[in-house]
Amino acid sequence: MHCRPIRKKFKDTKKSCTADIGVGGCPGQNEVRELGQKLVSITGDLVQFEQGKMAEFIETFRSQLGKAIIFLVFLSLFTITLLYTAIIKPLKMVENAAIDIAAGTFSELPVDEKKGEIRSILRAFNRMVKELEEQQEQLFQAKKLSSIGTLASETAHQINNPLNNIATSCQLALSEADKDHNPMVVRMLETINQETERAGEIVRGLLEFSRAQTFSLQAYPLHKVVSRVQQLVSSEVPAGITLEVDIPQDIILRIDVQKTVEALLNLCINAIQAISEPPGRISIKADKDGSGNNAVITVSDTGAGIEKENLQKIFDPFFTTKNAENGTGLGLAVVYGIIKKQHGTTRVDSEKGKGTRFTITLPLSHEKEETEPLIES
Ligand SMILES: Nc1ncnc2c1ncn2[C@@H]1O[C@H](COP(=O)(O)OP(=O)(O)OP(=O)(O)O)[C@@H](O)[C@H]1O
Ligand SMILES: [Mg+2]
Repeated sequence: MHCRPIRKKFKDTKKSCTADIGVGGCPGQNEVRELGQKLVSITGDLVQFEQGKMAEFIETFRSQLGKAIIFLVFLSLFTITLLYTAIIKPLKMVENAAIDIAAGTFSELPVDEKKGEIRSILRAFNRMVKELEEQQEQLFQAKKLSSIGTLASETAHQINNPLNNIATSCQLALSEADKDHNPMVVRMLETINQETERAGEIVRGLLEFSRAQTFSLQAYPLHKVVSRVQQLVSSEVPAGITLEVDIPQDIILRIDVQKTVEALLNLCINAIQAISEPPGRISIKADKDGSGNNAVITVSDTGAGIEKENLQKIFDPFFTTKNAENGTGLGLAVVYGIIKKQHGTTRVDSEKGKGTRFTITLPLSHEKEETEPLIES
């Protein structure tokens, strides 16, 4: 700036004045004064200039700061909205759904396709809800069937003795009536005999359902059990219905062979009856589960399927949708009882109009096939 040379000149002039002469006697007194005044004016200009600069800077800074604050406010609002819709809202939904589950209502959450990470959490939550609901249903079923089983077992035992007496007396009376050549009495006694046998079958079914029967267990290959079922059922399979079987040879179970055949036979007969209009397909398959401890056997059909409201009742004794000649409603109760007695589980999946699949799990036996069964009550 041009003030530096003036200041230098002012200093030089001032130095040339000696203390004893005094300022008033200095030869460059006027020059000093002029330079001083110039210096003062330049300093004033400088101060003004600096103040102007400072004011300009403060103004720019203030406007930038204002813009930054507005931007930050918008950014915060945007972040809060994003956080709310993407995280807080779904988490709140999960919280409410968890409260509903605790109160016994199993409701699935809507999954928005756009929400990345949260979407997988919601999906996992929905999977958990579904599994919980299924487990709850199975527990409810098991408890219900267990209490029905106690009653069924008591009733069956109470009816069994008088029924045996009726059957024995009837057969004695029948042989006497035969001797007397009394055809009407013989006919009536034969009817009594048939009906007693029918009642006896119902009692046996109830006892099997309530697992009060004695079981003869042996290590036995599943494929042989299924072959037996295939033989027994083949004459009942109408034209147009195919029966597929896929059972690995190495699946050995510790089972009562006769009773397991009976259980699988009941499932196959139901499957045949469910395909009222061929064509259709029934398949019996099996595999080992992931743990390698159980066999998973499925019997599925492409039949009529089961109404959703009936799914919870089909294992109840005497539940049937068939007329009196075609069903007593004991088939699945017997299946349930036989599998349960052998430490297994039975479950059903069905869709009306599409078909039904029964899934049985039974513990695998690590022994070799045994020829002699072991009695277990
Ligand atoms: N594979 C299937 N497809 C469609 N419905 C089925 C199937 N299996 C069972 N059901 C339904 O479950 C009900 C109960 O079956 P369950 O075998 O216990 O008795 P049932 O077949 O009616 O009579 P029963 O077996 O004593 O002769 C059936 O009446 C039917 O409504
Ligand atoms: Mg049946």
